[in-house]
Amino acid sequence: MKRASDNSSERPQKKHNHRPIHITVGAVTPPASQLNNEKRKFGTSSYGNYPSYYTTRHTQGDATIDYRIDLLDASMFNGKSVLDLGCNSGNITIALAQKYKPSFIKGVDIDENLIRKANTNLRVAYSLRDPNTKEPKHIDLALQSHYFPKCLSNLYGLLPMAVPPTFEHTEFPWTVEFETVDWTEYPYNPNEQQYDTILALSLTKWIQLHGGDKGIKSFFKKVHDSLSRGGSFVVEPQELKYTGAKKLNLDVDNFKFLPEQYNDFLMNKLGFKKCLDLGAPKGTFYLFLHI
Ligand SMILES: C[S@@+](CC[C@H](N)C(=O)[O-])C[C@H]1O[C@@H](n2cnc3c(N)ncnc32)[C@H](O)[C@@H]1O
Repeated sequence: MKRASDNSSERPQKKHNHRPIHITVGAVTPPASQLNNEKRKFGTSSYGNYPSYYTTRHTQGDATIDYRIDLLDASMFNGKSVLDLGCNSGNITIALAQKYKPSFIKGVDIDENLIRKANTNLRVAYSLRDPNTKEPKHIDLALQSHYFPKCLSNLYGLLPMAVPPTFEHTEFPWTVEFETVDWTEYPYNPNEQQYDTILALSLTKWIQLHGGDKGIKSFFKKVHDSLSRGGSFVVEPQELKYTGAKKLNLDVDNFKFLPEQYNDFLMNKLGFKKCLDLGAPKGTFYLFLHI
């Protein structure tokens, strides 16, 4: 697979402007009306914004692992710039950052409470690492302590992550950034930012439920345009079932563009060059290569 730097003459690449991650303390509270709207919008988890996703998703098996991570090839991440769309509380983003060492990985989610949690989780993951090897002994999705006694963070708190603005962000956890954003609305400028790898795990249903057939097609187009040449798109198409659809006036039966047609659209309409089925145990887990 070609590295992004191979084609710098063909497409302008922005140097990532990595910002230090910080936890905002005492943030300005938005007005009550805005808070009520937010509550209505997100309260029902109608965007798949489940607050305890990584503890409930894995009730069938071991909560500390995610079978999807092991299906992904290190070459898609190591030294690459990565965008994790709909990252929820960031557990997968953080695990990928630790396991595969991307040069930069950004997790975005529409729900600001989840992004707040993701930033805390990042600090937890940093604080739990063995300071001698800096290599995590286990990539533990549940962010359990495997080196320090469990009581230490209760007694002494988490490690601070603040660094001077001149600090070169080349190592975990400073390679990770989270942002609250509705990515379908996010202004896109190909001259500003392109990624080597984009992930859309358990996200397509939520994009289509709210944006319809047109919305999911524009979403795929935006992903395609946001990838650098040779980049990879990892997508986990979901069935369009949602028990809360009626309550939200969403007519799931009216969708004409179905998950089994995504593949054809991505390859024949958008021009992805190669598609691999990574074959997840549950459902299908595609990898599209954009060459
Ligand atoms: C079911 S979770 C999947 C989490 C994670 N990607 C995984 O598979 O482990 C879907 C996430 O997508 C987020 N989401 C839904 N629509 C979004 C949008 N338009 N922009 C950004 N995030 C979105 C939700 O808030 C939720 O956290």
